[in-house]
Amino acid sequence: MAYKIAFFGAKPYDIASFDKVNEKYNYDIRYYKGHLNPNNVVLTQGVDAVCIFVNDTADATVIDAMVDNGVKLLALRCAGFNNVDLKAAKGKLPVVRVPAYSPYAVAEYSLALMLSLNRKIHRAYWRTRDGNFSLNGLMGFDMHGKTIGIIGTGKIAKILIRMLKGFGMRILAYDLYPDLKFAEEEGFSYVSLDELYRESDIISLHCPLTDQTKYMINKDSISKMKDGVMIINTGRGQLINTNDLIEGLKEKKIAAAGLDVYEEEGEYFYEDKSDKIIDDDVLARLLSFNNVIVTSHQAFFTREALHNIAETTLQNIDDFRHHRPLVNEVIL
Ligand SMILES: NC(=O)c1ccc[n+]([C@@H]2O[C@H](COP(=O)([O-])OP(=O)(O)OC[C@H]3O[C@@H](n4cnc5c(N)ncnc54)[C@H](O)[C@@H]3O)[C@@H](O)[C@H]2O)c1
Repeated sequence: MAYKIAFFGAKPYDIASFDKVNEKYNYDIRYYKGHLNPNNVVLTQGVDAVCIFVNDTADATVIDAMVDNGVKLLALRCAGFNNVDLKAAKGKLPVVRVPAYSPYAVAEYSLALMLSLNRKIHRAYWRTRDGNFSLNGLMGFDMHGKTIGIIGTGKIAKILIRMLKGFGMRILAYDLYPDLKFAEEEGFSYVSLDELYRESDIISLHCPLTDQTKYMINKDSISKMKDGVMIINTGRGQLINTNDLIEGLKEKKIAAAGLDVYEEEGEYFYEDKSDKIIDDDVLARLLSFNNVIVTSHQAFFTREALHNIAETTLQNIDDFRHHRPLVNEVIL
């Protein structure tokens, strides 16, 4: 009998990439458009594995219901796992993930946000389409010689650091577990968070969301930053207290923000809401700034990444099914 997988939050591009890779596995994949939540967890009855993404909910209620429904594996098709209650899953439901699908995609996208905001490409695009060829307000700065602060120096940040070196930037980094060998090879320094905040012209977030990192960018940390700092977040929305960010933007302490993630993104991101009004006032305020670019958690979204996500997810499920070691298991 074919192994059954309930696939939540399915988009046309997911279905295309998973169906292609599934040609070699022949799993019975049931694609559901909705995000997994306590109301639709009933759809997991009788399936072997459940596949979810960043905005699905796998809290204790959902996990218990999946276990009761006979689900044997939770397969995340993403790297982050902050949406899963690992304590609730422990000993009941193994959780696997895709630790790296294309760190290049996210690193390149972080750089794209920096360059767009700095050189105001997003504004120039609209101006010239409207016959406005003036340059007023579009002035940027040379990246060369500026200081960038990188928080979290894992797979994505390491690639970004190499790219930024090519720009001739001075790189400061902070990580709970500094990779001193890498720092020596690439010629950058690990510093304290306070020093990073104080010195950086651009700050880019690449650490996971944990109890420790939640809201690390807040009123207090913003007050320690340089006037006119640019903040880039392709990590997780809750790394930033958005209300404090908005205050920093209004006070012009923060000159620009590139946000691929947003703390309340679950309601909006990946969905076409263009025929509705935005009833999230915080998001609406963010979208009103001409020095803020908000994108819909798309940093990962390249052809290569989608293919790798499907390959690794189905391989993880195959490993579980055939009792092979789970190399990508998330262990609490
Ligand atoms: N926007 C997107 O599309 C997208 C895609 C993939 C990943 N991400 C996010 O990017 C993050 C980084 O991804 P990665 O693949 O480089 O992860 P990684 O696990 O390779 O690196 C994370 C780094 O953060 C460090 N870290 C952990 N806790 C920290 C703390 N309290 N302070 C400072 N550093 C800390 C770790 O030591 C590690 O070096 C992920 O956690 C995920 O949230 C976003």
